[in-house]
Amino acid sequence: MSASPRQLTRAYIHLARLTHNLRLLENQAGTAQVWPVIKADAYGHGAKYVARHLVDLGYRTMCVASVVEALALVEAGIDAVYVVLSATLPEHSEALAAHPNFEPVVCTRDMLDALGAAGIAAGRPIPLHVKVDTGMGRIGIQPDELRGFLDHARRLPQLRVRGIMSHFPRADEADKTYSHEQLERFRRLVNDTRTEGVDVYHMANSAALLDVPDSGFDAVRPGIAMYGLRPSADVVNPCVSELQPVLEWKTQITFLKEVAAGAGLSYGHSYYTHAPSLIATVPLGYADGFSRRLSNRAELIVQGVRCPQVGRITMDMSLIDVSALRGRVTLGDEVVIIGQQGETQITADELAAKLDTINYEIVTRIGPRVPRIVIANGDESD
Ligand SMILES: Cc1ncc(COP(=O)(O)O)c(C=O)c1O
Repeated sequence: MSASPRQLTRAYIHLARLTHNLRLLENQAGTAQVWPVIKADAYGHGAKYVARHLVDLGYRTMCVASVVEALALVEAGIDAVYVVLSATLPEHSEALAAHPNFEPVVCTRDMLDALGAAGIAAGRPIPLHVKVDTGMGRIGIQPDELRGFLDHARRLPQLRVRGIMSHFPRADEADKTYSHEQLERFRRLVNDTRTEGVDVYHMANSAALLDVPDSGFDAVRPGIAMYGLRPSADVVNPCVSELQPVLEWKTQITFLKEVAAGAGLSYGHSYYTHAPSLIATVPLGYADGFSRRLSNRAELIVQGVRCPQVGRITMDMSLIDVSALRGRVTLGDEVVIIGQQGETQITADELAAKLDTINYEIVTRIGPRVPRIVIANGDESD
């Protein structure tokens, strides 16, 4: 029997680069534990592969967005403590309590009550993290509610407040005034609760870990930097230039044709050739996460040369003008969407700038039909 066919558009995940980035971040973290953030399928990198590698490296605690994400990792056989970062509803309390290594982030009394009941049913205390909004303006109780919230939790016999946490909304900006004010608020909370038996205070994301001194407390929660991407152009820590992008995104040429000058290409003929042109087709479309809004704006690398994407990006295919490579280009040639070929590189930041968004969105949007191919010790596997 022949081998099963492979998708031609693929994301390559370089585990050695992940290890390298983590080493840099560990240095920054000092004595604080590093709790890698692997939510949203590890920012599009493939949570199963990333989590497995993290366990191999000795990481024990990781952060996910939801109990569904945590369960998928447990079902994949990846044994770790999963801090569940997003607010959730009491309907998930049973699932959260069913696994001793799930540690939900809690910010409503309804959820405390539901988890308390689920803990009684499970016959063991549920470890949780109380989220305090020190200035993020998203989820969390207000700082002046913390005392009452902790009292409420203490009255429920099967709850254990293991952590108190917060989050930075502006640590990636050049002006750190707001982050320092927030840090001061969090420090007061730490001091006020020192006798409460809380194990872990944690607040820092990548930008804070890199650029807000003393924001580490007991644990830090880096996401984007671990994947080798900078949180923003304003993060100045020199270690940012040493980060290595973990993900490369590549495809291959599946069709080539010469067209005359003035030929309309793809839906709506949003592009007409200016001269006789050699046009390549790649099996890459907006269904793969290559945004339609990049139409006629992106470049891709073929044979080490940047070539313009032309015409509308469609669901499954896009066109590239490879006229500059006449006589050199052929069917099956590798095409780089994000990554490096020879001396030429295209970054997630470049695509983000064209789409007026952030690198986070570019990598998390790479679609589920794009296989993640793990590169470890030079070998590929999926
Ligand atoms: C609560 C929380 N902590 C940590 C992170 C990691 O942030 P970053 O990827 O900027 O390091 C996130 C990501 O959005 C988050 O929501």
